Amino acid sequence: MRVSNDVILNAAELIKKGGLVAFPTETVYGLGADALNPAAVAKIFEAKKRPFFDPLICHISDIEMLKKITDGITQQALDLIGKFWPGPLTLVLPKAECVPALVTSGLPTVAVRMPDHPVALELIKHSGTPIAAPSANPFGYLSPTTAEHVRKALSGEIDYIIDGGKCSIGVESTIISLENNKACLLRPGGLEIEEIEKLTGKLTIAGSDCIPSAPGLLPSHYAPGAKLILIEENAEIQAPTDKTALLNFGPNRRTNKFLKVLELSHERNLNEAAVNLFEYLHQLDYLSPDKIYAEKVPQHGLGIAIMNRLQKAAF
Ligand code: TXA
Ligand code: MG
Repeated sequence: MRVSNDVILNAAELIKKGGLVAFPTETVYGLGADALNPAAVAKIFEAKKRPFFDPLICHISDIEMLKKITDGITQQALDLIGKFWPGPLTLVLPKAECVPALVTSGLPTVAVRMPDHPVALELIKHSGTPIAAPSANPFGYLSPTTAEHVRKALSGEIDYIIDGGKCSIGVESTIISLENNKACLLRPGGLEIEEIEKLTGKLTIAGSDCIPSAPGLLPSHYAPGAKLILIEENAEIQAPTDKTALLNFGPNRRTNKFLKVLELSHERNLNEAAVNLFEYLHQLDYLSPDKIYAEKVPQHGLGIAIMNRLQKAAF
């Protein structure tokens, strides 16, 4: 979907003035503000009702910006950057002085990524500053993969929403920390773990081996308004009512009647399932069901990120 240059220039002016702009990335829509302006960043937390202990990702459009906001980049980081940026990979690196403590929740590190989306890159470039952006949803709710999702949940809170169409990946970036030259997975996401491990070797998983899990990664997250119940693929569902919705992985062979059934991917393709995940959860949730049953998906490739989101939505 084409976005005109004027729209991007106007949005960049708003960012420069300390405003809030929602913008598309390849993963999900972000709620952006000038990362180096604490007053602007504070508005993000306010709009989302996000707790201050949950740090933000800084989005950059070139390596100069990376150098500005970090303090020392290791060869391992450069290798990952060379292979995967722009793209759905966030790196947690030592932070530079200029990054406000509000962005990093007081941590000595900063999370950075270069999104693989022309609108996001142009917006950052014209703003002339890194853009701090969480997903553009109220804290704890489903992440937005269209401008419409953002409008429905947050319109009164934002200065401008750039409509760049549907996100091509559909789940948030994979987050890796590289402290002490040890690559550690903080959040599975849109870049497959198997791809990263080709470069880093086996990743340590946050929360295991005495490595604390990432701040802000609460057990309950990404949740629809309705209660979500995880089930095995093709498991029988007892007595669904006309208020029961079903999010299936592949084709649904059950004969019971549901309020609505959606298939994440008819071919059981995990990339397609990721693209549809939040869109379909939004669609089901807008029908105000009393329960959403969601089938588990296989735990490899993007299936790991999908299961992570479904488990948190069900918690
Ligand atoms: O794909 C994405 O990553 C999207 C788009 C908009 O870029 N953004 C996103 O942001 O998912 P958000 O705020 O929903 O998730 C950011 C998470 C935090 O919850 C935290 O777990 C981790 O990134 N994080 C940020 N800074 C960190 C740091 N310094 N150390 C460890 N984890 C950090
Ligand atoms: Mg989020």
